[in-house]
Amino acid sequence: MARTQILIVDDEARIRSSLAGILIDEGYEVVMANDGICAIEKLQGEGLPDVVLADIWMPGMDGLTLLKEIKNRNLDIPVIMISGHGTIETAVKAIKMGAFDFIEKPLTLEKTILIIKHALDQRKLQLENQNLRMRIKKKYEIIGCSKALKELSGQIEIAAPTNGRVYIYGENGTGKELIAREIHEKSKRKGRPFVGINCAAIPEDLIESELFGYEKGAFTGAMNRKQGKFELADGGTLFLDEVGDMSQKTQAKVLRILEESCIQRLGGVEWIKVDVRLIAASNKDLKEEIKQANFREDLYYRLNVIPIEVPSLKERKEDIPLLVDHFLREFCFENGKKLKKVNTEALDLMSCYDWPGNIRELKNLIERLVIMVPGEIITVMDIPLTLRENNQPSLREAKRDFEKYLITKTLRASRGNISKSAKMLQIERSLLYQKMKMYDIEPRKI
Ligand SMILES: Nc1ncnc2c1ncn2[C@@H]1O[C@H](COP(=O)(O)OP(=O)(O)OP(=O)(O)O)[C@@H](O)[C@H]1O
Ligand SMILES: [Mg+2]
Repeated sequence: MARTQILIVDDEARIRSSLAGILIDEGYEVVMANDGICAIEKLQGEGLPDVVLADIWMPGMDGLTLLKEIKNRNLDIPVIMISGHGTIETAVKAIKMGAFDFIEKPLTLEKTILIIKHALDQRKLQLENQNLRMRIKKKYEIIGCSKALKELSGQIEIAAPTNGRVYIYGENGTGKELIAREIHEKSKRKGRPFVGINCAAIPEDLIESELFGYEKGAFTGAMNRKQGKFELADGGTLFLDEVGDMSQKTQAKVLRILEESCIQRLGGVEWIKVDVRLIAASNKDLKEEIKQANFREDLYYRLNVIPIEVPSLKERKEDIPLLVDHFLREFCFENGKKLKKVNTEALDLMSCYDWPGNIRELKNLIERLVIMVPGEIITVMDIPLTLRENNQPSLREAKRDFEKYLITKTLRASRGNISKSAKMLQIERSLLYQKMKMYDIEPRKI
């Protein structure tokens, strides 16, 4: 791991070298500059310092101007000012301008180290925070560039700002829940709760208490009053997933709530007003369910104000490379692994497959590959047979795949030693080199 780097900016060589000595002893890496301009140059490269220690008074560009430059450039680096005697006012000004803290001259060892530690702790927290926010955002990002997905995004844009009930339908794993969240995020209800309930996953006799809540003593075991999902979603959005699995009795109750915007907890007498936007989803054909008398037609029309159909992955195969890349990043990061790549042949294979489980199936496969494949390149040989059989390879392709697999395996066994691998494979070293180049195999990455 890269060491923590500190940039010391001071015109006095004596101060620079004594500070550097202390910090190097503490295990930090030190970079030095004798004025603001020189410091700015050091801030232009790739490896930015983690903390800047800058003197306030310097000829050329002084500490305050440097601080302003750092802030203007949006560099999230804590800046600690070093102030001489009588410059406290300026130091306070620096704090107002966004400096992390200041140390007075003459510098004391303990104080300097303590302030640097505090600055580093704060920076770490800030980075973790940013990272978390990015990850949450990424987790619910809708990825894709296909025409079908663009049309879908257009429908979301139109539906989201309204209060209209949305009915999302499509095959399993196509992203119905993701779309429901996106509609909520793009609505005026953003910032209020998004509450989901999967009607298929909750036993029939519990669904009503989940949806409407209950009063203390409403039934055996109801020790305390409990709010239901409708109440919890007040002001926000309630996502009724697998709505086709609701019993007739629950359907009747939900219908009444939609008409009156009021709920009654089980065992209660009071009617509670709720302001909830409903988004329902199903992978069942509700029209067919209505024909079979399993779903109420009146409820269907009330839920289905804005219908959104989510296309299956088979209908938008152009999205596969982007999705693969997105999930690779997500799972490599989550598992603390170096970013892996899926090579062209493997990606072609994935693009040919029909994905009956849609995006969820693809996502699960990428997670498995990230965990199971030891090298950085995912090849056809790493992909499960079910997927490969779906796409019958020619004998030539199969031979190539096997050759690549065997070379990779042998290199792995010999820990990347090419001479040893060539011997094990009983071929010339030069031929092995040629083949490695052809198959894009890098021994260091195996
Ligand atoms: N376009 C997309 N971009 C990125 N991730 C997606 C996309 N579509 C779906 N996913 C991911 O795939 C998984 C399945 O999506 P989701 O749960 O929304 O599907 P669903 O249609 O509700 O499935 P089911 O019918 O099985 O409940 C989730 O982890 C989701 O984040
Ligand atoms: Mg779902």
